[in-house]
Parts: sequence; structure tokens; C-alpha cells
Amino acid sequence: MAFVYKDGVKVGATGRPLRDFAVPPTLSSHGPARIIAMCNQKGGVGKTTTTISLAASLAEYGRKVLAVDFDPQGALSAGLGVPTHDVPTVYDLLRGIEKDASKVIQHTSVPGLDVMPANIDLSAAEVHLINEVAREQILAGILRQVRNDYDVIFIDCQPSLGLLTVNALTAAHGVLIPLECEFFALRGVALLIETIDKVRDRLNPAIELDGIVATMFDPRTLHSREVIDRVVETFGDKVLDTVIGRTVKFPDASVAGQPITQFAPEHAAAHAYRQLARELIERGAVA
Ligand SMILES: Nc1ncnc2c1ncn2[C@@H]1O[C@H](COP(=O)(O)OP(=O)(O)O)[C@@H](O)[C@H]1O
Ligand SMILES: [Mg+2]
Repeated sequence: MAFVYKDGVKVGATGRPLRDFAVPPTLSSHGPARIIAMCNQKGGVGKTTTTISLAASLAEYGRKVLAVDFDPQGALSAGLGVPTHDVPTVYDLLRGIEKDASKVIQHTSVPGLDVMPANIDLSAAEVHLINEVAREQILAGILRQVRNDYDVIFIDCQPSLGLLTVNALTAAHGVLIPLECEFFALRGVALLIETIDKVRDRLNPAIELDGIVATMFDPRTLHSREVIDRVVETFGDKVLDTVIGRTVKFPDASVAGQPITQFAPEHAAAHAYRQLARELIERGAVA
């Protein structure tokens, strides 16, 4: 974890005093899940990496976790090492080709972490759903079937604000926005917040912004620090204390089809995601 001393106090990348988040107590019973959409219409900001690593960290803490791949690229499914071809996917559920959500869910190599896979078929979903009744609420209906089996469900959104993402926001109780620490990080975030506000007004009054996660932070560059300062200035307490550093371990872990917490359990990035998991539990975003 990157920190500096300011007036004798250890200060994290966000400029706030560094805090420790306690290891959470184990849960004695499970569910119903809180549903969290991982959202940013910009690609390559760390949505999928954050979904995988956070989901795996929460599973390590004994939470029952479902990760929904909601991007036709299928990177979440691949990153968790599950097959995406010749298996039923979330697309089949959306189309009603498969009606039983539990038949689509696969276990991963991480105990307590399941995945609902996707593949390129999902790219056709928006066209098909456009004429459906209550087309924004289809994913919410699907996840209702399995919500009692999990403590938290993450939806890894595709980089767009189209109908699939609106479905995710309609199904969700909370949204996490990963932001890459680079110059144009904030571009487009206003539009994303506007979309969340519209979904709250029209479809899902309870949806909350759970937090903004700064990713790919490089403490050696002034640039990364300037971006964090801007983000904290704009979003204040919504910016989570835990900041994820930039490291090549992530691409390596995806190639291996494993979460970083399993691929390199003692790497700083694995510890960072475990801290993010503890922070979200402490904030009440996750049980
Ligand atoms: N903290 C990080 N440091 C370095 N590379 C990262 C980090 N987080 C993600 N990556 C890499 O950046 C790329 C984009 O990340 P990804 O999570 O797929 O973004 P998104 O889902 O928003 O498109 C991937 O190759 C991933 O391995
Ligand atoms: Mg992705």
C-alpha cells in the first residue's frame, strides 16, 4: 500500500489518513445477496480485474459470491478459468432459451466463488431484447432466482451504457465505478452518474453509488497522484481508501485463468484487493 507521511501521520494515496480495516467475522448464515454492478462505459479501466479479484477476496473471507459475466468479451469467465463454449450462458437466460438460472452457474477453483459465464452470443442480446416487455428488468428477474444462495452478486458490465448495462443497474443495489489513474479518467463519468440517476428515477429507486475504486495507480508518477487528487476533490468520501496499484501480475493472472489472490497470494495487489473487500464490508456494501 502506497503511503507518505503528512504531519507525522501515514497518509494513503487518497490523501486521507491510512486506516486498517478489520478482518471481518465469518457469517453464520448466507444470503440474500446484495447485488453490485461494476460499471464504467470506458474499457480497460479494471472492471473485470476488480470483479474477479474482489469476488475472490470476499470468498476467502467466507462470503458466498456469484460473479455475472455481462460482457460479450467473456473476459470474466476466462479470467476465472471456466469454459464459455458449449455451455449455457447468461445470454440463454436473457432470451428465455434456458429458464433455470442455477443451470448456468459454474463453480470456480476458488471455494465459495461461482460464475455465470458469457460469450460472444451476448453481443446479440440488445437487439433481441429491444422489443421485450419490461426489457430493462430481465436480469433482475434472473438474479432473483438465485439471490438467496449468495451473500453478494457482482455484475461485470461491458464498456457501454446500453440496454445490458441498464439491466445491470436495474438489478443492482449498488454500483462500484473503477477509475484508471490516467489523465482522461474523469471523462465520461458525469454521463455514467447521469445514467445511474435516470435508472434511480425510473426503474430502481434504491440504487446507491457504493464507491469509486482508483485502479492502476503508479505512485512514482506525479500524474497518477494528480488524477487521484482530482477524483477525491470531485467525489469526496465516495472514493474508497483502498487504491489498486499498477502491476503486470494482473495480465499474468488472467492468462493463468486465476484470480490474483490465488495466482500470487502474497503480492501487494492481492493484499490490496483483500483490503478493498474488508473496506466494503466495513462500509456495509457487502455483508
Ligand atoms: N492494477 C492493474 N495494473 C496493471 N494492469 C491491470 C490492472 N488492472 C487491470 N489491468 C489490466 O488492464 C487490462 C484491462 O483491465 P480490465 O479489468 O479487463 O478492464 P475492463 O474490464 O474495465 O475493460 C487487462 O489486461 C488487465 O489485466
Ligand atoms: Mg471487462
